[in-house]
Amino acid sequence: MTRVLDGNAVATSIRDGLSTSIDSLGEQGVTPGLATVLMSDDPSSETYVSMKQRDCEEVGINGIHVEIDVEAPAEELLSTIAELNTDPAVNGILVQLPLPDHVDKRAVLQAIDPMKDVDGFHPENVGLLVAGEPRYKPCTPHGVQKLLEAADVDPDGADAVIVGRSDIVGKPLANLLFQKQQGGNATVTVCHSHTDDLAAKTSAADIVVAAAGVPNLIDETMLAEGATVIDVGVNAVDADTEKGYRLTGDVDFERAKSVADVITPVPGGVGPMTRAMLLYNTVKAAGLQHDISVDLP
Ligand code: GUN
Repeated sequence: MTRVLDGNAVATSIRDGLSTSIDSLGEQGVTPGLATVLMSDDPSSETYVSMKQRDCEEVGINGIHVEIDVEAPAEELLSTIAELNTDPAVNGILVQLPLPDHVDKRAVLQAIDPMKDVDGFHPENVGLLVAGEPRYKPCTPHGVQKLLEAADVDPDGADAVIVGRSDIVGKPLANLLFQKQQGGNATVTVCHSHTDDLAAKTSAADIVVAAAGVPNLIDETMLAEGATVIDVGVNAVDADTEKGYRLTGDVDFERAKSVADVITPVPGGVGPMTRAMLLYNTVKAAGLQHDISVDLP
């Protein structure tokens, strides 16, 4: 029987654990605060940010939301970040990506105080991750790692193939999975749009993580019998629904399920884990900034 992992259930148990951490910070007079910054009129970015704010409210994190006009000069975003950097009520800052074309993403990510960079995208935090001393693990890769742990799938010694080399998922996940640490020790192959014979790579893997942003890229013909399949893709495809589209992953779920031992659905797999790990990093950030040691789930 194939096991379909319930990302919502694992995320709920992490959020429950975080409530305890937040209570213990509260006993010392600290309420974690997360600022989200949106400079986009893309409806899906708006939805993601409002879900993150709702998550904060539910677990007792102070949510602050700033919206910047999509046509405003980049300086407006940079000065907002400068203010949030010095605001003691703000422990974490998340600037929702993508940004408009006229804004230099690298300059923005580097402007965030690395201690408040709960996305883990600042070069200092990327460096710490690569060095094997992560401060804030990026949320989606960390969510994938926690999901594997919850499913008792140990990457140690496994052949893991990651399809996609993005800064947000592929690159940091590769680092987490091959790190000489609990939840790591896999042999990792990172595939991408220039990979020769993708199917040969994926079908030799114990763990396949699909993060390419291509709907239904992976099916049963590309998988080994008994593989663990983690689908990070969230793609809107045309459909006869009220909104005119439906969300689908990078994996053809029904077909892949016929050979996989363990598989994540879309929605309800990695997505809720990403959101939970943002709360996790925010609580961790509050502890670090107040020099309070916090137990984290
Ligand atoms: N856009 C899509 N995923 C992410 C993410 O993890 N963080 C931020 N800041 N923006 C995103």
